Amino acid sequence: MFITLEGIDGCGKSTQAELLVRALEDAGHDVLRLREPGGVKISEQIRAVLLDPSNGEMGDVCELLLYEAARAQLVHEVIAPARAAGRTVVCDRFYDSTTAYQSFADGLDRTMVSHANAIAVDGCHPDLTLVYDLDVEQAYRRRSGREAEDRLELKGLEFQRKVAEGFRTLALEEPQRVKLIDAAQDIEAVFEQTVKVVRGAGIKI
Ligand code: TMP
Repeated sequence: MFITLEGIDGCGKSTQAELLVRALEDAGHDVLRLREPGGVKISEQIRAVLLDPSNGEMGDVCELLLYEAARAQLVHEVIAPARAAGRTVVCDRFYDSTTAYQSFADGLDRTMVSHANAIAVDGCHPDLTLVYDLDVEQAYRRRSGREAEDRLELKGLEFQRKVAEGFRTLALEEPQRVKLIDAAQDIEAVFEQTVKVVRGAGIKI
């Protein structure tokens, strides 16, 4: 099984990923936890370029291709082999982030982004995608304890609003795979919803 977690910045998906991995392991799954962009050396190096606040001149297409390059390497090096070996893969963000951020929010052509996603993943698609849906102001408050904002966070709330709308659209377009989870509640309540959705997808947990 390949499970991805998605949502706007500060939606709490990384905490949920951690809880989910533990629960899957307790249920006997051999789990590989990853994050995007990153997860392997080359992709982590690309992540550093993407998040560097001094790279403000980066164009949208360069950004798209860097995300795809990071993804292609992660799929090639670990996701595809892990799936072939029967492991359960849990990935914090995947190609739905590219559709939501680079297409819905940044305005890149949706067909071009879909093609770029397809090139990067080479047929390796998530079985289940959990989208943690949260009001952008609430997400911003959750994040405000942080020391510095990265280049992407600086794009601000209006951008995040478009991202959130993008994820909601994806959930409407692909209801079998993409499930919305109300992330406004406390961690335990959100995790209860996570478990329910994962079980609903036929995954033992
Ligand atoms: P993170 O904060 O969840 O680690 O994600 C890093 C940032 O990268 C986050 O602001 C979302 C952004 N991102 C994209 O814009 N497109 C993508 O394809 C991915 C994977 C992440």
